Amino acid sequence: MDNENKQTNSLSRRYFISQAALAGAGLLAGSSALAGFTTHQNTAGLPVANGKRMLGTLEVSALGLGCMSMAGTYNPPQPKKEMVALIHAAIDQGLTFFDTAEVYGPHYSEEIVGEALQPYRNKVVLATKFGFDTTSGARGGRNSRPEHIRLALEGSLRRLKTDTIDLYYLHRVDPKVPVEEVAGTVKDLIKEGKVRHFGLSEAAPDTIRRAHAVQKVSALQSEYSLIERVMEKGILATCQELGIGFVPWGPLNRGLLTGRFDENTRFEPSNRNSQLPYMTPEALKVNMQLVRLVQQWAKQKGVTPGQFSLAWLQAQKPWIVPIPGTTNMAHLKENLGANNVVFTAA
Ligand SMILES: NC(=O)c1ccc[n+]([C@@H]2O[C@H](COP(=O)([O-])OP(=O)(O)OC[C@H]3O[C@@H](n4cnc5c(N)ncnc54)[C@H](OP(=O)(O)O)[C@@H]3O)[C@@H](O)[C@H]2O)c1
Repeated sequence: MDNENKQTNSLSRRYFISQAALAGAGLLAGSSALAGFTTHQNTAGLPVANGKRMLGTLEVSALGLGCMSMAGTYNPPQPKKEMVALIHAAIDQGLTFFDTAEVYGPHYSEEIVGEALQPYRNKVVLATKFGFDTTSGARGGRNSRPEHIRLALEGSLRRLKTDTIDLYYLHRVDPKVPVEEVAGTVKDLIKEGKVRHFGLSEAAPDTIRRAHAVQKVSALQSEYSLIERVMEKGILATCQELGIGFVPWGPLNRGLLTGRFDENTRFEPSNRNSQLPYMTPEALKVNMQLVRLVQQWAKQKGVTPGQFSLAWLQAQKPWIVPIPGTTNMAHLKENLGANNVVFTAA
């Protein structure tokens, strides 16, 4: 199903959850999903619009594009020309929210995104992240000292060919720098016009509250998918209470939820997936039980497992905006079809 297809697919969310509980409880491996399905509560029946969503006060398209693996994570770094064409195709299809980070590459993902978005700068929302030391040209340790944030920002602005970042996330909390100091620095950058919105990534509720008290946080970006459900243990509730939008990374669990792997899949040691707990031979064996359930439901409703998984995330809250990563034109088009899938309450 592509993005032009306006057919609405109504899926029985409650039935899916009850079936998933049978298949999933106690079976999923490598993640916090073990506790997931039976206790899950969400907002039932929310229509998933093709249009826009709000992350705090920042308006974005209902689905974003993760640009990390363009610089090589689950695959080798991709040719810039092809990735620029992919980003342009996304814009043509109405996707206007792009996610990158200084550390992806390092720098190469921002270079691709900067080149691609330059002609569209006022029509898109550009998110990037700081918090690692990349001054040596490789990924270094965490560094969120104020002077380092300013240095990182200048590099990101240059590579992204812009004079302001729409959404600037702290990528990982630096234990050596109080988050209030980080939030205060971003607050100054917002006053200076170099940043529009502040975001956090993989932060705990107390950290979110402390940062938000200094500078309003527009979005939290953390891992969340049908397989990785730890966000449901207090983090989404914190976002709801504070009016912070949520951006799930890994929404397809690195492709696992699309059905592209099975229990016999083995990864080369050089492939990032080989280091992930979800993808060990033992974990694949049990995680495939959930993937099969997703496949079954997706087939019944005429959508793909990936679309089902992305639409499920969108259906949890109207302020959730997944950012599936892809380097592949057909996958991009497929993923955008999630915008047309609607879950009903029963
Ligand atoms: N804040 C953080 O700490 C953090 C951490 C990791 C990632 N992120 C961000 O979140 C984004 C998404 O996360 P992610 O890339 O780790 O995981 P993901 O989106 O769950 O999965 C990406 C993987 O799925 C594959 N894929 C995508 N669509 C597919 C489809 N329709 N059919 C089959 N395979 C498909 C991609 O391969 P193809 O290229 O072949 O499509 C890629 O290998 C990243 O790009 C990055 O911007 C943030």
